[in-house]
This record gives sequence, structure tokens and C-alpha cells, in this order.
Amino acid sequence: METNTEARKIILSGIQPSGKLTLGSYLGAIKNWAELASDYDCYFMMADMHAITVRQDPATLRATVLEQIAQYIACGLDPDSCALFIQSQVPAHAELAWVLSCYTMFGELSRMTQFKDKSAKNEENINAGLFTYPALMAADILLYQADLVPVGDDQKQHVEICRDIAQRFNGVYGDTFKIPAPFIPKVGARIMSLQDPTAKMSKSDTAAGGCIYLLDKADDILRAFKRAVTDSYTAVRYAPAVKPGVSNLMQIYSSVTGKTFTEIEDEFESKGYGDFKLAVGEAVIETLRPIREKTEELLNNKDYLAEIYRAGAQKAGYAANKTLRKVYKRVGFVQ
Ligand code: TRP
Repeated sequence: METNTEARKIILSGIQPSGKLTLGSYLGAIKNWAELASDYDCYFMMADMHAITVRQDPATLRATVLEQIAQYIACGLDPDSCALFIQSQVPAHAELAWVLSCYTMFGELSRMTQFKDKSAKNEENINAGLFTYPALMAADILLYQADLVPVGDDQKQHVEICRDIAQRFNGVYGDTFKIPAPFIPKVGARIMSLQDPTAKMSKSDTAAGGCIYLLDKADDILRAFKRAVTDSYTAVRYAPAVKPGVSNLMQIYSSVTGKTFTEIEDEFESKGYGDFKLAVGEAVIETLRPIREKTEELLNNKDYLAEIYRAGAQKAGYAANKTLRKVYKRVGFVQ
């Protein structure tokens, strides 16, 4: 009989429930996440407790969290092969965050660039949670003894402070936490704005039609692609430096159809930009259609969705409480 003695590595990541997901985040990241679950033990969490460090409308927050879970599942994340859960439903996060905040220094929190940025932008609401945000994030990660934390560049500093906190705690009490590392997953496509192909496609894109959302309607998607910024030449050629608009459309087309750049160039050899844009728009519509339909189906079946996140919280809570109990014992809380 074959026994697998090599334990699988553990991945945890948190997602800010900050709104609608874009085609850029799907092709650049989420699509790859779905594949991680086959190689790692994955915990994916909706970070609603982090979200309230800036003021949220309660109904919107609730709706956004559910919508986001539905979209991740619709994008291919299999809730049976990972723990998909909501942070506030696993109390161990708040509990460990308190303990860790007593091992996190005022000075190091003051140096966090995200704190400086966010407090500059929210001068009327510089609350303590915004300041201690990294201690909660350290708790998220350390509770699961995560090896790897997939994050974007803007969150690397938070993984670093998490390592410092873990090392400090381990130094005082002996090995308690695994020291995690940031993980930059296999890079997906870098998708740019349809209106400004030199800037990344993002939710903060204000230009109409610059950003495609996963739940956009077919008509809106087609219109956005028809109006996509290109150049004053005519050839469909991949050359990001000189033809950023056309190259971005080729990147999108390639990501959704699996065709190579050469195949795409051949396909549109004797056709104009108009035909090309239409083809890209239609291919995107076909890719997003099942995601939108699956998302709607899940959102219309709130009971099933609840089953998923409750099961996720249970799976996560089991692992988290093991670590929390160990920590409580180490710091001297009566058992
Ligand atoms: N702070 C992260 C962000 O803004 C979200 C997050 C919360 C997170 N807890 C986490 C990411 C733990 C990775 C690990 O994107």
C-alpha cells in the first residue's frame, strides 16, 4: 500500500470583498487559483473583518461577500477541494488577532505603507482597526500554519510583518507557528484597460468601457470591445511597445481561445480592426456567459451557497482552533 508521508503544502489567501470582479482579475489570477487546489491544501477566505476598517454599507457588504463567493465558484474554484469561508464566521481569527497584537510593535505598524496610504485617504476615520490590520492578517495566515500566501505586490509588506510576528512569538515560546512565505502564482495574463492600454484593467478605471466585469451583459461587453482603443495602423500584430491596444486585445483573445499570437495574426491577416474587435468581444462573451449564469444560479440558491460557506467555516475552524489552543496554552491562559 502506498502511503503519502509528504504532507501537502498549505496555502491561505484572503480576498477583500470590495466589489465586482473584472476580466483582468479572472484571466490574471482567479483562473490559476482554481488549479492550485489540486496541488495544495487551500484556504480561501472573504476578508469581511478587514473590510470594515473602512466604512461599509451593511447591506452592500453582505451582498458583496455572497456575490464574490458565488463568482469564485463560478470561475472554477471547487468548494469541495478547498475551504472557502467567511473570515467573521471563524471566531479564531479575532481571538488570535488580539493575542498577536500584543506581540506587534507600535513602531512597525506605523511604518506600514498601506496604513499610511489609507489614513491619508480617510482622514476622518483613522481608526485603530486600520492601524492593527496587519495583526489580524497575521492571524489569518498563522492560524492555518500556511506555507504560502498568494498576494499581489501591495500585500507583500503584510506577509513580511506576519513573518516577523511569528518569529518573535516562536522566539519567546518555542516553535508555535510555521513561518510563511509570499507566493507569486504562475503569472496569468496581464490584461490592460480597453480605453488606456498602458494601464492595468482595474475596478478603479473610471473611463467608460475600460474595464469588463465578469457579470457584464453581452451587449455591454460587445460595445466596450468595439470602442477599444487601438492605433492608426491596420495590421493585427503583437507588438506591445508600439501597438499596446491591439496587443492587449490579442492577449485577451489568446487567453480565452487558447490560440497563439501567430495563429491570431494569421486569422486576421486580411481583415481589419473592426472584424478583430468583434471576434474578441464575442469570444469574451462566450467565456463569461457560463460564469455569469453559474453565478446567478448560485445567488438564486442562497441555501446551497450557505451550505458551502458553512462547511468552509467548519473545515477552517477545525484547523484554526488547533493553533489557537496551542497559543492560549503557551501564553499562560488557564485551560
Ligand atoms: N489584505 C489583503 C488585501 O487587501 C486581504 C487579506 C486579508 C489577505 N487577510 C489575508 C491576503 C491573508 C492574504 C492572506 O488584499
